[in-house]
Amino acid sequence: MHEVKEVSKVEITYEGKTLTYPVIEGSEGERAINMGSLRKDTKLISYDPGFGNTGSCISDVTFIDGEAGILRYRGYPIDDLANNCTFIEVAYLLINGELPTQEELTDFSRILNRKSLIHEDMRNFFRNYPEHAHPMAILSAMAVSLSSFYPELDRPAEEEVNVAAARLLSKLRTLAALSYKQSIGHPHVYPSSKLTYVENFLNMLFYTPVANYEVDPVTVRAMNKLLILHADHEQNCSTSAVRLVGSSGANLYASVAAGICALWGPLHGGANQAVIEMLEQIHREGLTIDQCIARAKDKNDPFRLMGFGHRVYKSYDPRAKIAKKACEDVLETMGIQDELLDIAVQLEERALNDEYFKERNLYPNVDYYTGITLRAMGFPTDMFTVIFAIGRLPGWIAHWLEQRADKDQRIGRPRQVYTGPTKRKILPIDQR
Ligand code: ACO
Repeated sequence: MHEVKEVSKVEITYEGKTLTYPVIEGSEGERAINMGSLRKDTKLISYDPGFGNTGSCISDVTFIDGEAGILRYRGYPIDDLANNCTFIEVAYLLINGELPTQEELTDFSRILNRKSLIHEDMRNFFRNYPEHAHPMAILSAMAVSLSSFYPELDRPAEEEVNVAAARLLSKLRTLAALSYKQSIGHPHVYPSSKLTYVENFLNMLFYTPVANYEVDPVTVRAMNKLLILHADHEQNCSTSAVRLVGSSGANLYASVAAGICALWGPLHGGANQAVIEMLEQIHREGLTIDQCIARAKDKNDPFRLMGFGHRVYKSYDPRAKIAKKACEDVLETMGIQDELLDIAVQLEERALNDEYFKERNLYPNVDYYTGITLRAMGFPTDMFTVIFAIGRLPGWIAHWLEQRADKDQRIGRPRQVYTGPTKRKILPIDQR
């Protein structure tokens, strides 16, 4: 891991005492006050709900400039990666720090193929889930169950990292496809060594013994792109969950299962499902664009513009730009006219010109257009967040590995400002 440099100092005066803390700087000029000894020095803690001002680690994986709309994995701009690489190349980049050579890619792909089956006994688990169980519920449970079937790679040694990563990438994709098949009551489809990672995923999802299914190159290209857009996003909610759970020494599978649960929420990865549900509601109820905007601004109305706003991006999310273009391409190539896309475009245009959204720097985020693309590809709504999870997996693995190698990391343990009752006595039950 690269070192940060100390560039200046900050002085804090508290109760007549002046304390000095170093200001550190990362490779893109981001600065932070290193306050590791604040409590020891002053008995003070920092209060920062939502961690909007808190840097929990030093990381080499992903750089975001939210004001300028920049996203880079290991130094490579997101649009270059989305336009020139496959998801597996990007996964390798995130996990190993460098794009693979042809030989490394062939080797990694071979392991991905070899590790793609899941233990037959695991398939029995699926049979006991009720029909229409949410695939995210099944996926998170299956992810942690992997540790009981494959415990030998719980904490991979340095030379086993690629095998452990490939195993998880490959098996989680198989599990995601099986959870879908289970949720619709269809027979499971095995992975095939003749197909690439993404082709295999689509085949396991959409092949049925009673209808011909040919993996379509347009869908494969779009899926590679969508997965790349989701592959990492520095210390977001699910990645922080993976790191927090991992900081206790929990194994890779358990940490990733925590990430899947965190991702499920509608304020995070679940937003792609929530966007489609919102657009369907607008369509079904015949809401006008003006009504939607008014309701989204009304603090007494739970209606929000799902797929809008972001903790870090205060300009257009660079992923949303790529997702919008990919969405238009897929719909055009497939000859699909989707009224929801028309609503989404109008809503975006109107919101971007509205004072409320302008003042708060609210722009479409990655989830705004991905749902429409996935719908066109034939995915049911409750699979959208599963696709996001498959995409985010290399990022979670990269962060889990980085944290494990970081000598400065300790168990994650925030503090609090207590506001409950002060010390009191227990009254006998007849006097309470
Ligand atoms: N619609 C309407 N108003 C919004 C929206 C929205 N989508 N997002 C934020 N605002 C408003 C807030 O009400 C707040 O207004 P106020 O200053 O008058 O109180 C202001 O904008 C700032 O918003 P916060 O909620 O403080 O922003 P925060 O950084 O805490 O939340 C979040 C970010 C969760 C993404 C939020 O914008 C949101 O709920 N968006 C919709 C859900 C969504 O799309 N999530 C996906 C995020 S991307 C991802 O995780 C992959």
